[in-house]
Amino acid sequence: MNTMTQTLENKSILLVISGGIAAYKSLELIRLLKKAGCTVRCILTKGGQQFVTPLSVSALCEHEVLTEDTYKMDHIHLSRAADAILIAPASADLLAKMANGLADDLATATLLASDKPALIAPAMNHKMWSHPATQTNIEKLKSYGHQIIGPEEGDMACGEHGIGRMSEPSEILRGIEEQIHRSSLPPFLPSSLPLQGRTALVTSGPTYEPLDPVRFIGNRSSGKQGHAIAAALAAHGASVTLITGPVTLPDPAGVTTIHVETAAEMLTACEKALPVDIAVCAAAVADWSPAEQQDHKIKKRKRGNPPDIALKENPDILKILSNHKNRPALVVGFAAETKNLIENANEKRTRKNCDWILANIVGQTTQKTFGEDRNHVYLITASTNEDWQPMSKHAIATRLTEEIANYFETKAIQDAAE
Ligand code: C5P
Repeated sequence: MNTMTQTLENKSILLVISGGIAAYKSLELIRLLKKAGCTVRCILTKGGQQFVTPLSVSALCEHEVLTEDTYKMDHIHLSRAADAILIAPASADLLAKMANGLADDLATATLLASDKPALIAPAMNHKMWSHPATQTNIEKLKSYGHQIIGPEEGDMACGEHGIGRMSEPSEILRGIEEQIHRSSLPPFLPSSLPLQGRTALVTSGPTYEPLDPVRFIGNRSSGKQGHAIAAALAAHGASVTLITGPVTLPDPAGVTTIHVETAAEMLTACEKALPVDIAVCAAAVADWSPAEQQDHKIKKRKRGNPPDIALKENPDILKILSNHKNRPALVVGFAAETKNLIENANEKRTRKNCDWILANIVGQTTQKTFGEDRNHVYLITASTNEDWQPMSKHAIATRLTEEIANYFETKAIQDAAE
């Protein structure tokens, strides 16, 4: 008996088959899983039923297939009862629903109610795969802890060529075997996560600096990048406090979120969150606030003269944290520059005494950054600068988190050697 069969023997697998020509390969996958000793329960979506019949799936898994029409029981039980959840093929539509927490049918409700990460094997046309919407969804799913296998490059059923073919059943079987092996450990496994035991604070969004009870000085920051970083750090095991200015985004799951309005409130909340191992300052803190806040709405003057508004400088939270007596071991800031990106960002890194800067150019291209889903950043440290190429803000969050995990792993090795 080989290791694969040993790992999978007596395991219960929940396989979700969604719509796509690759669904025919899932029949072979069921056969391989059964051969390895698994119990296989299958959810066949409406889309999946366009490509394989409920009868052939039931016959192969030796259990009645679960479809919208046949399954009337508790969808929560389905995911809890499984040792592993596999989605093959995962259509672009199913990925989008999973990434955004939709639960409007049996498959999506079961996946949202799940207590474990899934192994996802996407399959779709190559243009659908490379579309920024799909790529953003994939990065989101990764940041929730799900694992993606494939897709592969090759000829498509539609006659085109590109990346989008579902991985071969044998590859997917290997993937599920690895996942089950890892999770002999409980699901979303704290002990196996690289930042387990680390604490982090992340600032995000804009700050609003009130002029009077109805007006404020603010900016257009959406908080997308900071929130994605907080979620990615948490998904990698860190205990995260997110301190955010006013945004329309939901609080990320598994993160302690503190809502503030002004730079002064953000600073107080950050200092309260200390000590932490990691600080990532992604907030677009307003540089100035009105020197005086009026208790009543400032009235328009009869002659039309606008009021003089005196401003005072706001505290630089990044700089304060970097020079704090409880300084985090790793402090990361952001820099938006209009020219001499590396030079200016490096100067900012030294002046503020932070360790790393994620820098991007603004104003020279059509790139807007604020509110966008994608960005093009450079990681600037004391010794290197790396061009990360344009990618989604979720992908930037995952990559930054991986760099942070590497930093702490290397540091632990060095500390042990001393
Ligand atoms: O000086 P500048 O605003 O370009 O610096 C950007 C970096 O500093 C970002 O990481 C931002 O979150 C942080 N910052 C801060 N407090 C301020 C201004 C900027 O934490 N008052």
